[in-house]
Amino acid sequence: MRKVAGAHIVAAANGAAPLRKSGLADNRQRPIGVFDSGIGGLTVLKELAELLPREDFIYLGDTARLPYGTKSNEVIIRYSRENAEFLLAKGIKLLVIACNTASAVAMDEIATETMVPVIGVIEPGAQSAVKISKSGKIGVIGTEATIASGAYTRMIQRLRPKAEIYTRACPLLVPLVEEGWIDNQIAEQTVSHYLGSLKDSGIDTLLLGCTHYPLLRPLFARVLGRGIRLIDSAGATAGSVRERLSALGLARREGQGRQSFFVTESPDRFIRVGRRFLGPQVESAVRIER
Ligand code: DGL
Repeated sequence: MRKVAGAHIVAAANGAAPLRKSGLADNRQRPIGVFDSGIGGLTVLKELAELLPREDFIYLGDTARLPYGTKSNEVIIRYSRENAEFLLAKGIKLLVIACNTASAVAMDEIATETMVPVIGVIEPGAQSAVKISKSGKIGVIGTEATIASGAYTRMIQRLRPKAEIYTRACPLLVPLVEEGWIDNQIAEQTVSHYLGSLKDSGIDTLLLGCTHYPLLRPLFARVLGRGIRLIDSAGATAGSVRERLSALGLARREGQGRQSFFVTESPDRFIRVGRRFLGPQVESAVRIER
């Protein structure tokens, strides 16, 4: 894969159709690629589809190899590359890394190697948190790999050097959400356990740095009480995608967008759990071999 600035893209090494300088109208019609380690990225797709209803989306969930949040950087980068290559071969015009873990660990590699614009969730999420926080005391929660990478901390500090950042890995929240346990006693105890020290540190903003956490918003709000604003990266990322598409003249001007789903494991669980994340439009998914 090779990259040239902006939307002026040169030949593709992997068979993907490059965006054409002279064919903006054709480029506009192309789909947007979105990948995640599995199901969680559907929270990002939900925001994207709401904000950009004219666009087609191709979603790849690497369900055979999730979770990414407990894996090493080397493995996360390798998987992310493979996901990006699959989507590029579908002729996408822009790539969204919906997975916080992949964005935290592999964003630089993917962005440098990829022929189309790449948007991850870290920068948009950090920008939102920095904008919302009055005191500059910001909490960040995510998977072990996301927190260990320090990606959110670095980005927040870049945007607001005097920010005080408190982080916490919350590994049990992903399986709880996938199990549908978002409002029972076990979920409440787990969330209270993870968020207790963050609450005590006096943060005024909590950045939900994982695809699954938007489903726990009501519980987070209850446990944290008033006075702590919750920011998730999904909505902010959709806003960044819209801005980038319009800056590059790549936004569709008419029509009704469609979504298609690809997974790397049997689609049954993806469809069943995915409906809770996105809604009834998760009707079918195509399994790809890895
Ligand atoms: N999608 C991942 C993230 O946002 C959570 C699930 C996983 O660990 O793979 O970090």
